[in-house]
Amino acid sequence: MKSKILKLLQNSEEAVSGQMLCEKLGVSRTAVWKVINQLKDEGYEIEAAQNKGYTIKKFPDVLTAAQIESQLMDDDFQITKDSIVKSVHYYDEIDSTNNEAKRVAENEDTKDGTLFITESQTTGRGRRGRNWASPKGSGIWMTLLLKPQIPPASASMLTIVSAIAMVEAINKALDEASENAQDAVLDKSSVCGIKWPNDIVLNGKKICGILTEMSAEMDYIHFVVIGIGLNANTLEFDESIRDVASSILKETGIKINRSRLVALFSRCFNGVFETFVKSGDLAGLKERYNNMLLNRDREVKAIYSDRTVEGVARGINDVGELIVDTDEGEIIIRAGEVSVRGLYGYV
Ligand code: BTN
Repeated sequence: MKSKILKLLQNSEEAVSGQMLCEKLGVSRTAVWKVINQLKDEGYEIEAAQNKGYTIKKFPDVLTAAQIESQLMDDDFQITKDSIVKSVHYYDEIDSTNNEAKRVAENEDTKDGTLFITESQTTGRGRRGRNWASPKGSGIWMTLLLKPQIPPASASMLTIVSAIAMVEAINKALDEASENAQDAVLDKSSVCGIKWPNDIVLNGKKICGILTEMSAEMDYIHFVVIGIGLNANTLEFDESIRDVASSILKETGIKINRSRLVALFSRCFNGVFETFVKSGDLAGLKERYNNMLLNRDREVKAIYSDRTVEGVARGINDVGELIVDTDEGEIIIRAGEVSVRGLYGYV
């Protein structure tokens, strides 16, 4: 009911009467009053005017299930069909949303499209066994659980699907923010794109990483968890990553409304995912991805365990491998096998 009340209050420019809330939701005035008080406790500034009703004066920057779900609902309080996220599990703190998504999926009958999201992770995990710093209140640490009907061998492409959707969502959120705020005008030279295969980079620094894991049999996927760590409003970074990591706020001066960005991601993901599922590969997304690829037509070095190869990155093929022109001809690089760096820096 909380998400429904939030939806009604945030969509209305005028005060919403208690009577109207009771009728629309089929609940008592006391029940409405209780939820309003809970929302106030969570940091919503709600004005209650006699004979008029309730108005939300200020929204806290929270990632609760109600706050996210209310932004994904239609007028019948159903999560819209264009949203990949169908329900949200929120935690104040958790070890890792990927771990939690896997635990829940292994023990319960979880739905495709469940989103696990938290304010902070105690042992956030990055790729290649690295840690992922996930401080409280500043970032988006979330995992999307999917049960896609695709071959297990295609699951790694979901990381690229997610990266495309996230770049689109970030760009939309930045456009909205600069339209709404008089003082925060987005510097159009800020370039958000992808460093192959799926690091999201803004002004040359990594702001978002994706860790996809799966539970499968030879020919059947039980579930896939797509973990996304986005430094939205983070200002402090450990010395060890300060040179390569940053946040949207640090790079643009724009404070991101995190729940809005999650809602935008959910919609963008759905569209990109549909295109992926139609062909079963990245053929229909290749051009979109390559236009976001910051390494494109730039010199890169591919660092294998036993050698390094230099060349010019040209873009991805239908399965997400990177095509690189070298002196010896074209080579194809598979994610996971190598680490790709710019010749003169991170990208
Ligand atoms: C990377 O190394 O680039 C991937 C980072 C992925 C971090 C996210 S945060 C939410 C989810 N939970 C985790 O423990 N990791 C992922």
